[in-house]
Amino acid sequence: MGDYTNMSGYYDLIMTSGYYDYQKIVDHLLNGHSYSNVLEIGCGTGLILEEIARREPNLSVTGMDLTQAMLDIAQDRLKAQANINLLCANITEFSLSHQFEMAFSYGGVWYFVIDGDKEPFLVSHIRDDGLNRLGLERLAGLLSSGGELLLGVQGPHHDYERPISNGMIYAQKIEPDAHGFLKHYYLRDGETTLMAQSTHYRTYSFAEALAMLGDYGFTYKPEAQTPKQFLRFTKS
Ligand SMILES: C[S@@+](CC[C@H](N)C(=O)[O-])C[C@H]1O[C@@H](n2cnc3c(N)ncnc32)[C@H](O)[C@@H]1O
Repeated sequence: MGDYTNMSGYYDLIMTSGYYDYQKIVDHLLNGHSYSNVLEIGCGTGLILEEIARREPNLSVTGMDLTQAMLDIAQDRLKAQANINLLCANITEFSLSHQFEMAFSYGGVWYFVIDGDKEPFLVSHIRDDGLNRLGLERLAGLLSSGGELLLGVQGPHHDYERPISNGMIYAQKIEPDAHGFLKHYYLRDGETTLMAQSTHYRTYSFAEALAMLGDYGFTYKPEAQTPKQFLRFTKS
């Protein structure tokens, strides 16, 4: 479920070749807000955490992820940052003795896709509905009352292949299925396939997502700005 071991060694190369814009992500994440502590769920190799630490060296930040190989890279990247704590866990089994003012996920466990004027839909790395609910229950327990949950927004997924910064070819292919889609990721160097990973995603309509999040105390707070990098929820 959501394991990124196969991709881990090439993740930074692919993501920093234009897949995600980490400057813009952190602009939106921290813009006008001051938090004393934050949690990233599905922090991967720590690219967002690194940018947060650069801007807010005194902010206490925890990153969690279920893929140890991704966290190993994050650990190395963030070894000089005493204010960043990394933990290996599945969100469905995760708990801590303290709570956070803000939790976020960008491309991590849960995110929204917005395709033009269409209604957003929720994408989850967790395939099973009951486990999605368990994960949200765990997440709710990690946020203080009045705390904020920011879930990242991405554009629609589609099939493509394109060269990345070092000339290798990144390709992805989407296969819709009954509850979501299967996404295949590839990295090729000439005739050699360096990396192949296939990940199942569950999807929820916007109404289903708001109802499910609402069951765990998360209320949607619509914001005017476009394009959106995150949708914001507050926890009761
Ligand atoms: C696309 S990466 C995003 C990483 C990072 N947020 C970034 O922007 O570069 C998704 C990450 O979510 C993690 N993940 C998926 N399902 C998870 C779960 N149930 N609990 C914790 N982490 C999970 C994966 O291991 C992977 O590292």
